[in-house]
Amino acid sequence: MPTTAPHRTPLLSESSQEVVRATAAVVAANAEAITARFYPSMLAAHPELRRVFNMGNQATGEQSRALAASVVAYAVQLINPDAPPFDHVLRRIAHKHISLGIRPDQYTIVGRHLLAAVGEVLGDAVTPEVTAAWDEVYWLFATQLIAEEARLYHLAGVDPAVPVRPYRVVRRVQETAEVVSLVLEPADGQPLPAVLPGQYVSVFADLPDGSRQPRQYTVSSSRSGTRLQITVRRVRGRDGAPDGQVSSFLHDHVARTQPHRQVVVAHADRTAADHALRDAVLRTGAELDEFTALAWYEQPEPGDTTSREGFMDLSEVPLPEGVQVFTCGPLPFMRQVRATLLARGVPASAIRYEVFGPDLWGAAPEPAQPVPRQEVHQERVAV
Ligand SMILES: Cc1cc2nc3c(=O)[nH]c(=O)nc-3n(C[C@H](O)[C@H](O)[C@H](O)COP(=O)(O)OP(=O)(O)OC[C@H]3O[C@@H](n4cnc5c(N)ncnc54)[C@H](O)[C@@H]3O)c2cc1C
Ligand code: HEM
Repeated sequence: MPTTAPHRTPLLSESSQEVVRATAAVVAANAEAITARFYPSMLAAHPELRRVFNMGNQATGEQSRALAASVVAYAVQLINPDAPPFDHVLRRIAHKHISLGIRPDQYTIVGRHLLAAVGEVLGDAVTPEVTAAWDEVYWLFATQLIAEEARLYHLAGVDPAVPVRPYRVVRRVQETAEVVSLVLEPADGQPLPAVLPGQYVSVFADLPDGSRQPRQYTVSSSRSGTRLQITVRRVRGRDGAPDGQVSSFLHDHVARTQPHRQVVVAHADRTAADHALRDAVLRTGAELDEFTALAWYEQPEPGDTTSREGFMDLSEVPLPEGVQVFTCGPLPFMRQVRATLLARGVPASAIRYEVFGPDLWGAAPEPAQPVPRQEVHQERVAV
C-alpha cells in the first residue's frame, strides 16, 4: 500500500523561521543574560509571583538556566525537523507548572517581560521582525504548554483557579539526624488525590517572615489511602551560603501543625488579670486533641479552684515521654524551671528557651537559685 513519508507540519510561519534560523545562535549565546534580566523585572512588577517562584533558585541562578535552555531548544526543534523529540521536555515543564498552580493568564506576564528582556540584552540587533519572530516562538511554546497543562489539570481533577489544598502534618518521623518524614492529611476533609509511584507534590510553606515558598517533594508513601508522606532532607548552606529555607523550616517548625501532639502550657503570673493572651492560648489549645493549661498566680482570685497559688512548680506536672520544652521569661526564673526539669530527667538538649532580656544563658551559672519574687511574671512551657 503506498504511503507518504511522515512529516510534521511546520508550526512557525515561514518568515519567522528565517529570522529564528538567523538569530537562534545569538539568542542562545545571550539566553542566560536574557532570563537573568527577565526574572528581576517580572518579580518587581509582580511581587505576588515571589510566592510561586523558588527564591532559592533565583539566588543560585538555576531557574535562569532551565528557562533559557528550554526556549532555545524549543526554537531549534521548530526550525530543524531532524532535531531530537521535544515532547518529554514539554511534559516535564507542564508537570512542574501544574504542581505550582500556573495559570494561562500568567503566560501573558511572562511573555511580556521575557520579550522586553530580549530587547534590552540584544539592543539594536532586535528589529521589529526579530521581536515578532521570537514572540511567535514564545506563544507557540506557551500554547502547547497551556494545552498540556489544561489536560493534566483535568486528569487530576484540579481546578487551576484553586490549585492548592491545605494539609496538616499528622505525624513526624525523624528518619536520621538530617532527614525527617512528614505524614500529611488533607485539612479540607476531601479525599486524598490518586498518587502515582514516583510522583512529587509542591509544598507551599508559609515562612515566619510572612513569605510563602514552594518546593517539590517526592511522595514517599501514600499506602494508607488517606495520607501522604514526604521525606525531607535538611539542606545545610555550604561555604557561607544560607541553609535551605523550606527544608530547615519543615525540620524546625512543623510542630505547629500537629494537632495530635500532647501539649502542656504552664504559665506563672501575679494575678489572673495580669495573665496576657490567656484566652487566645485556651482557644488555640481547644483545637488540639490533648491540651493541658496550668496556671500559678501569686494572688489567685477568690473562688479560683483551677489555678494554683504561688510560684511555678513543675516537679509534679506529668511529662510525656520524649518531651520537648520551650521556655520563656526572665533568666533566674528559667534557671529554676530548667533545674527542675533536668532533675526530672529531661535532657538539656530538649529544653529551649527565650530570655526576656539580654541573652546571658550561656554565661549563667548552672545551679538553680531561688527565684526572686518580683521576677516571676510570665513563662510558658509548650510540650
Ligand atoms: C521533582 C523534585 C523532587 C524532589 N524531591 C525531594 C525529596 O523527596 N526530598 C527532599 O529532601 N528534597 C527533594 N527535592 C528538593 C526540594 O524540592 C528542595 O529543593 C530542597 O528541600 C531544598 O529546598 P530549601 O528551601 O531547603 O533550600 P533553598 O533555600 O532553596 O536553597 C537551595 C540551595 O541554594 C543555596 N542558596 C540559597 N540562597 C543562596 C544564596 N543567596 N547564595 C548562595 N546559595 C544560596 C542553599 O545553600 C542551598 O544549598 C526535590 C526537588 C524536585 C525538583
Ligand atoms: C512559554 C513559557 C514558559 C516556559 C518555556 C517555561 C519553562 C520552564 C522551565 C524549563 C522550567 C523548569 C522545569 C523543571 O524544573 O524541570 C520552569 C519552571 C517553572 N516555571 Fe515556567 N515556563 C514558562 C511559563 C511560565 C509561567 C507563565 C509561569 C508563571 C508565572 C511559570 C512559572 C514557573 C515556575 C514557578 C517554575 C518552577 C521553578 C522555580 O520556581 O524556580 N513558567 N518553567
